[in-house]
Amino acid sequence: MSPSRRDDTTRLIGLLLGTEDDWPAAFEHLLTTLGPVQHRGVSHRMASERITIEPFDLRDPVRHDVVIDRLAWWYYHPREWLKKAALVDDVYLLNNPFTFQAMEKHSAYCAMIRLGFDIPDTVLVPYKNPVDHEKWAYTAETYNLPFQLDEVAERVGYPLYMKPFDGGAWRGVSRIDDVDTLHRAYDQSGQMLMHLQAAVSPYDSFARSLTIGPETKIMKFRPELPMHDRYEVAHSFLQPEAGMEILTLSRTINAFFRWEFNSCEALVTGTRVRPIDYANACPDIAITSLHYYFPWAITQLISWSVFCAVTRRRPRVDTSSRDWFAIADDPDLTWNEKLGNYAVLADQYFQADEYREFCSTSLATLPDLVRDWVASADFDDLLVRTVQVTYPPEEHERFLAHFRGLLGLWVTDQA
Ligand SMILES: Nc1ncnc2c1ncn2[C@@H]1O[C@H](COP(=O)(O)OP(=O)(O)O)[C@@H](O)[C@H]1O
Ligand SMILES: [Mg+2]
Repeated sequence: MSPSRRDDTTRLIGLLLGTEDDWPAAFEHLLTTLGPVQHRGVSHRMASERITIEPFDLRDPVRHDVVIDRLAWWYYHPREWLKKAALVDDVYLLNNPFTFQAMEKHSAYCAMIRLGFDIPDTVLVPYKNPVDHEKWAYTAETYNLPFQLDEVAERVGYPLYMKPFDGGAWRGVSRIDDVDTLHRAYDQSGQMLMHLQAAVSPYDSFARSLTIGPETKIMKFRPELPMHDRYEVAHSFLQPEAGMEILTLSRTINAFFRWEFNSCEALVTGTRVRPIDYANACPDIAITSLHYYFPWAITQLISWSVFCAVTRRRPRVDTSSRDWFAIADDPDLTWNEKLGNYAVLADQYFQADEYREFCSTSLATLPDLVRDWVASADFDDLLVRTVQVTYPPEEHERFLAHFRGLLGLWVTDQA
């Protein structure tokens, strides 16, 4: 975070990282190989930097044009630095820390319900254990209405899921099939604030959609398997209508909250799409999770961050919820017309046309560059290093063969 001046010919992308090294290494390598980016007659030298954490003065200048953040969801010192960078220095952020802090999973459900999406019935119940605050005892005694958990669960219907309102990484999530597990889970929830949500069960497919800027990849997900096997390589596994709804929904929720980089989950039966988790801003994109889909993700992450840096896209901390609600509330529009209008707003927010034009001109060489690199010994070295730090020694050979196979398939599929 050390200060110094921005110069006018270099566009600097900052990476705010936790434990990961695989995609950052890929990002740095590809950005260097890409070389200067030409846009409207100007040559922009691209650079990236891993951001370190240190005391900062609120007036210190910030050198970065864009920051990609994978850390601030749990580490608040850098989160507050991001807010300063957005408000004082106009730095473009993937993602917006303001809305992400204020509008977690619960707010995403509320926004989607308001916009007309098919969220399973969801009830928020009060804390099981007292809240650690001096005013709690009096307030709760005076104002908390007694309630019967069994009756709430009965109304939602079994099976159901009990899960924290602000969710993430499966913390505190349980499937509830009967009254006993209901009470056990609620007793264990302690000071977590919990939703009871009707289970979507059975379903045809679990669709996980990763959105970066205006582009979305919908992947078939198998939550019951170990992480390296959860994303299945499957093309056209959804009916077109369901696919379109998920595409629109993913971009809508991102444009609505000003998120740029988010992965969303929906359970699909036929053409019916039921969203269950739409607030995973700055998701895991490890090679060992995404495998076949990793080259797509890293290409998009480079393209979108370079686009934002080179075109000087400005950050917006405010939202424009009224525009979305006007569509939602219009009684003359059919559901498909509403979806179409949401798509238009999302495309406007993400400058989709301008972005695609930029990708096909200023970044025209990137797809081949990524393909050649994924096929190279250099990429294989990165894969070996990643497997070595991720799995125990006796598993190295098996996992290397697994990921080499999937990434080899991706290279073949590009032909
Ligand atoms: N309503 C639901 N119906 C069916 N399965 C669900 C439902 N809610 C959660 N799950 C299952 O539990 C997992 C974790 O729940 P999720 O809401 O995604 O929490 P987290 O934010 O921790 O990822 C999901 O990936 C899914 O497998
Ligand atoms: Mg989830």
